[in-house]
Amino acid sequence: MRKVFLVALAVLMLLPLTGAFAGGEKDDGVVTIGANIYSFQDNFMNGVIKPEMERYSSELGVKLDIVDSEGQQAKLNDQVDVFITKGVDVLAINLVDPASAASIIAKAKAADIPLILFNKEATEAGAMGAYDKVWYVGTNSAESGIIQGEMMVADWNANSDWDKNGDGTVQYVMLKGEPGHPDAEARTIESVKAFTDAGISVDELALEADPNWSTAHGNDKMAIWLTSAFGKDIELVICNNDGMAFGAINALKAANVQLPIYSVDALAQALQHIADKELNGTVLNDGVNQARATLDLALNAAMGKGAVDGTSWVLDTDGTKAVRVPYVAVTPLNFEDFR
Ligand code: GAL
Ligand code: CA
Repeated sequence: MRKVFLVALAVLMLLPLTGAFAGGEKDDGVVTIGANIYSFQDNFMNGVIKPEMERYSSELGVKLDIVDSEGQQAKLNDQVDVFITKGVDVLAINLVDPASAASIIAKAKAADIPLILFNKEATEAGAMGAYDKVWYVGTNSAESGIIQGEMMVADWNANSDWDKNGDGTVQYVMLKGEPGHPDAEARTIESVKAFTDAGISVDELALEADPNWSTAHGNDKMAIWLTSAFGKDIELVICNNDGMAFGAINALKAANVQLPIYSVDALAQALQHIADKELNGTVLNDGVNQARATLDLALNAAMGKGAVDGTSWVLDTDGTKAVRVPYVAVTPLNFEDFR
């Protein structure tokens, strides 16, 4: 009996903390951010963005409630409903499906809760214009592909032996991220366009996409390609992110093959692969600053201030209501600066 009473008491004491009765920052003096990551399995999101959001939220003195959407947009929709019911002051959302922003924006608008979308930009036309309290924090997706492409062109021109069959054409394979994700689409196009813009012809031997941008995908596809009919013809491996490159590097090592390989993100493991001469270059995807900008905008929005008031972030002037953190080339010459 006493046990039952104690449990009941504990539950009662916990209720206000769960937010069941919380009415937002206006009532309890603490800003609560309802946030998600599209998948805790993602190297970059889980390894860089999430830990910095956790660290920076305590620096700012805000409460961060962060959940795993497990790669399911339907799950995220439910999580947003729960956050709204709990009465969070602001939402910080990493879309699972970039073409499903409108429904999340509509939910936030109906509840009059400000919304910061981050890392995965909405692709539905007009979605961002539907609500005056929604902003985006991410990057200029094309920039990563352009920088990666420029690195590859410079190295290709400096290493004539990379053109194994001497036909003046780059025979490449592409490990692509999530189809429809603005980063994946732009990186895939821009990285190759850098060659054709430089007057170098290209020949795509294979392309495989993975919605999870995973190491397993990179490993599996690279291993298959190396043993396929065109395996010996591959001259260059282009990866939309580090995670997939890690797998490809593993498959290359297992097959005892050396090929130039490039990626994006600049995770700690990628810097080590550059040090070990197993990766030719990556592009810093500045997750630390993306996490900070997301929380700075979220806090401002929750307090009813201008989104970038009192910060060093600048909103794009193109009507997308976006803060775009720059990408940086990471090569064997400068990678130590990013360790
Ligand atoms: C990209 C990043 C990828 C992956 C993806 C998830 O910006 O480069 O590694 O994390 O976001 O949306
Ligand atoms: Ca060639």
